[in-house]
Order: sequence, then C-alpha cells, then structure tokens
Amino acid sequence: MAIDAFLQSLTELEAEALGAFDAAPDAAALEAARIEFLGAKNGRFKSVQKGLGTIPPADKPLAGKRLNEVRDAIQSGFDRATERLARGVIEEVDPTFDPTLPAAPPRLGRRHPITQTIGELVDIMGRLGFSLEEGPEIEDERHNFDALNIPADHPARDPLDNFYLSGSGGVLRLLRSQTSTVQIRVMERRQPPVRIIALGRVYRPDTADPTHYPMFHQMEGLMVDRGVTMADLKRTLALFADSYLGTDVDVRFRPSFFPFTEPSVEVDFFWNGRWMEFGGAGMVDPNVLRAVGYDPDVVSGFAFGLGVERLCMRRFGVTDIRDLYTNDVRFLRQF
Ligand code: DAH
Repeated sequence: MAIDAFLQSLTELEAEALGAFDAAPDAAALEAARIEFLGAKNGRFKSVQKGLGTIPPADKPLAGKRLNEVRDAIQSGFDRATERLARGVIEEVDPTFDPTLPAAPPRLGRRHPITQTIGELVDIMGRLGFSLEEGPEIEDERHNFDALNIPADHPARDPLDNFYLSGSGGVLRLLRSQTSTVQIRVMERRQPPVRIIALGRVYRPDTADPTHYPMFHQMEGLMVDRGVTMADLKRTLALFADSYLGTDVDVRFRPSFFPFTEPSVEVDFFWNGRWMEFGGAGMVDPNVLRAVGYDPDVVSGFAFGLGVERLCMRRFGVTDIRDLYTNDVRFLRQF
C-alpha cells in the first residue's frame, strides 16, 4: 500500500470516529461507536492498522507515527464523550444537584447501646482524671483470685460459678469473672499514684433471665495514692452518678464484704424515686496492695465495680438484659 493512501485512510477514520463519539446521544450508542472504531478484534482502527505491514520500509516511520497520533486522538474523543454523557445523566436526574455541597456520609448503621454507654462512661471518668486500661478476658488464677485476696477455698472459685478453660498447658485459666483483675495488672506494672478505670466483658455461668446473662460488662475503678479515703470514693461515685444519670443523684453505701476491699460496701443510687444497686466498692485491702508490692503504710486506695448493663438499662428504660444481646434490629434501631 502506498503511504499516501494509508495516511488518507487514517485521516478519514479519525474524522468519522470523532464525529460518531460526539453525536452519540447516550451510553449505549457511545459503546456501539467504541466497538465499531476501537474494538480490539474487528474495530476499524485495527483494520487500518493492518495496512502498516504493506507500507514500503522507508515510509514506515512516518506511517507509524501518524498511526499513534490518530489512535490517541480517537481515544481522547471517546473519553470526552464519556464525560459529556456522565454530566448529562446528573443534570437529567436532578437539575438542582449541587456538586459543591459537602458530602453527607450515608447512615449505614448505629452503635450498639452498650458501646454507646461505654463511650460515655469513658468520657465522664476521663474528665474526673481516670484513664482507661485494658486487661485480657482469659485470665489466670493469680489475677482473678490470688492477688485479689480470694483464698483457695473461697466459694467465688467454685467451678459452677466460673468458666474454667481446659487444655491451657498446665496453668489453670478461666474467662475472667470480674474486671477487678485489671486492678492487679495495672498495679503490677506501675507505681502509685494510680487513677484508672477498666471497662470490659466478664463471664459467669448464669442462666439468662431478665437480669442475668452469662456475659456482661463491668466498669472497674481504682485510685491509689497517699491519703486516699472513703470520702474520695463517695465523692467520685456521686460526681459520676450526677454526670451519667443527669440529675442530682444521692449515693448510698451499704456495708458488705468483698475479699479485696476492707471496708466493703454495696453502692446504691437514688434515682427516679427509689434506691437502686449498681455495684460494689470499698477501700483496697492491704493484702492486695502487698500482693503487688505496694506499701499499705504509705499508700491507700479505693476501688469500685459497677454493672454497665445496669447503667445502660436504667438510662434507656430497657427491662430485659437479653434484649441487648439478641441482635434484633427492631430493638437496636431505637438507640
Ligand atoms: N468485682 C466485684 C464483683 O464482680 C465488684 C467489685 C466490688 C469491684 C468491690 C470492686 C470493689 O473494685 O472494690 O462483684
């Protein structure tokens, strides 16, 4: 083929292709034009390109250069037409569409009420100077019992009241039954002053009913320093209760017993006209301070453990703890 004829057919092809892309009224027509001109198998550009093999060698560089130019021009023409049609679609759908408005993220779901509660508790306690600490949910006996001054024959260790794990390589392990374990873990690695909370899951083999579930959450608090007293404990819990429940809440201590505190109390909040129990608390037992290498003659501390589900349920008016864990979206959508 003579070079002139080759160049001529390229020029015609370019003009026809650009004309077809420009004229395409919709995406389907544009795609048909693309296949006609740029189709990988039988496209017209491909068939013109085949002529390159028959061009005399001396003219090949010129022919190849022009071939590339035309291919790029046709491709750009196609890209422009694609853009034009995309714009057209938006204008057709909604003439008031304003692409300069800030994007609104789609509302795909919401946070679980317990997650929301935990976030709020962390905020409130953070404002009171308590930082959040974590500990493992699979624990050993030292952290769940021994260091917390729970003797070897104490009923709290009963296999019927704990999820012991088998096959843990000689060390007896269990799913932690209380977040008090985190008190020990923090004090083991840190010197006083300590002011922390731990928020997480605990496990007990209870049959599920409106107020029990084999897994629930606790908020543990611990403050250790020189001269910490029960008045600090009561003040901290009162400030917490006012913030979380949103009114002037009275706090009542009832004498109780926990191996890791002396004295120990049950904590009640007066809210909506009656006293309700939210957890336990007390002054950290000297044996616990000794177990982590603190000197009980120098420092003292208070600790508390509150039920997160109870706080969440009171706040949102939920009456059956099982509703929190059934994952019925009709329930969860209300929060
Ligand atoms: N760990 C206790 C429980 O699960 C709650 C508790 C009571 C935590 C007194 C404390 C405390 O830190 O001082 O029943």
